Amino acid sequence: MEIVDLSKETLGPYLVCLEDWSEDLKEAGNRKEIWYKRMKDKGLRVKMAVENGKALGMIQYVPIEAAFAEGRDLYFIHCIWVHGHKGKGVGNVQKRGIGKALLHAAEEDVRGMGKTGVAAWGVWLPFWMRASWFRKQGYTKVDRDGMAVLLWKPFSQDAVPPRWIRMKKKPDKGEGRVRVTALCSGWCQVQNMTCERARRASAAFGDKVEFCEVDTSDRATYLEWGIPDGLFIDGKSVVTGPPPSYQKIMKKIAKKVSKLKT
Ligand SMILES: CC(C)(COP(=O)(O)OP(=O)(O)OC[C@H]1O[C@@H](n2cnc3c(N)ncnc32)[C@H](O)[C@@H]1OP(=O)(O)O)[C@@H](O)C(=O)NCCC(=O)NCCS
Repeated sequence: MEIVDLSKETLGPYLVCLEDWSEDLKEAGNRKEIWYKRMKDKGLRVKMAVENGKALGMIQYVPIEAAFAEGRDLYFIHCIWVHGHKGKGVGNVQKRGIGKALLHAAEEDVRGMGKTGVAAWGVWLPFWMRASWFRKQGYTKVDRDGMAVLLWKPFSQDAVPPRWIRMKKKPDKGEGRVRVTALCSGWCQVQNMTCERARRASAAFGDKVEFCEVDTSDRATYLEWGIPDGLFIDGKSVVTGPPPSYQKIMKKIAKKVSKLKT
């Protein structure tokens, strides 16, 4: 296994989070590709773990100034993922040291760019991208917003700890129809999939539902809202991790539609 920079050969698996076997991920559309094209000129770095020509893991990180946290001179890890689905794609290759090797390669890369440290995020509960895993790799907690823990590993004494940017604006309720608002930045296929499901579900209700997609990959738009991704039905937040199914979103919208005055 070796850790390499993203290349033409690994771009495909990277854009679908190594899950080219997943029908669910196809639903996410091309939002990640659009995000990738935009961010690669803003300092996005991607490292891939490859063995016998197959992608086993990935890590993507961007300058914190282009990420969803406040800080300077740091890089921010959006996500690290080592394929973990048994019997699918490359199978479960976790716990073989690949995650550690990816993180180490990213840290060395960031150090080489003269940055003052690395920030990362994870959830404090024992699932998905765990904050505890980063703690084990020498990161310390600097902030928390709900389930999301912000951690960092400074490289120098003058490094300034990052902070979460918090939600500043909440989507409104619709007038005379239900308003479904999806904030979508494009970096995460799970969020992209949720956004696409919400768009399709909204369309199924015709003019009773208006669908608004907010592109938070635009920095100014993101700062206006303060959150990169989220789904709201008439202003009420829907939990998007794990991603809600199409049927679940339909059900939630239908409930609101049934309360509309005719
Ligand atoms: C977290 C993750 C990147 C770790 O990669 P990995 O290749 O499985 O981990 P490694 O084999 O390099 O393990 C490194 C260390 O973490 C420990 N570790 C790995 N998985 C762990 C787990 N689930 N719980 C606790 N410790 C764990 C290992 O024991 C090892 O400890 P050591 O340093 O004492 O030897 C990987 O498990 C993963 O991708 N998890 C899902 C994360 C996710 O949801 N990402 C999507 C974000 S969009």
